[in-house]
Amino acid sequence: ALARDLEGVHVAISAGGTREPLDPVRFIGNRSSGKQGYALARVAAQRGARVTLVAGNTADLATPAGVDLVRVGSAVELRDAMHKVAADADVVVMAAAVADFRPVSLTGHKIKKTDADPDPIALTKNPDILVELVSARREGQVIVGFAAETGDETTSVLDYGRAKLQRKGCDLLVVNAVGAGLAFEQEDNAGWLLSAEGAETPIPHGPKAQVASVVWDAVTARLFQPQ
Ligand code: PMT
Repeated sequence: ALARDLEGVHVAISAGGTREPLDPVRFIGNRSSGKQGYALARVAAQRGARVTLVAGNTADLATPAGVDLVRVGSAVELRDAMHKVAADADVVVMAAAVADFRPVSLTGHKIKKTDADPDPIALTKNPDILVELVSARREGQVIVGFAAETGDETTSVLDYGRAKLQRKGCDLLVVNAVGAGLAFEQEDNAGWLLSAEGAETPIPHGPKAQVASVVWDAVTARLFQPQ
């Protein structure tokens, strides 16, 4: 049995991918299955937390026992739901894969196929929910972000993660390498846990529940031994 070290703590977790509608039947989405966010919710509930899980599009996952589930579609819906839940939460975890952009206009009718070349899809920026939640942070609230990164010739996954932690201003950031066969849709995950103070802990490759345990260990340390 797991330690009930999150008893009396309300945690708000986002999971899955957002869908940005183009017309009544089409959307721009991503490959997030929600498995990492659901694993965070399940482990938190097992450790005694009151859990509100805000889920975008996910694979067919069972709602973990004792968890309150709120369903959302687009990034803007996810933002509204997270602000509402975060106002009463001790911990906020953004594991959702949020679209950075959405189509400028949502047509009320299905976009028709014509002989002419199609118009390009005009996009506009979505709000950065994590940055907003950090600015609206309650006293003592712990905020955790996730970063899905790919490295390149000049910058490693970890360096991109470090820069993202600075930019987002959260307390903890889980950095996972993504790409072919990594993180998205998988049963396992791996990466690093970065803290605002500069601690960098490798997270060994393992089931998403194990990654969740690493996160909750770090969160309880911050909640109960404030930095
Ligand atoms: O769902 P699974 O299939 O289990 O896969 C898990 C996962 C790979 C999706 C998950 O572990 C993960 O990394 N989630 C974050 C993916 C992501 O979108 O990273 P990002 O680098 O775009 O965003 C960084 C952080 O800012 C995230 O906490 C994200 O939720 C948040 N964000 C991003 C954009 C935006 N407009 N608003 C946000 O709040």
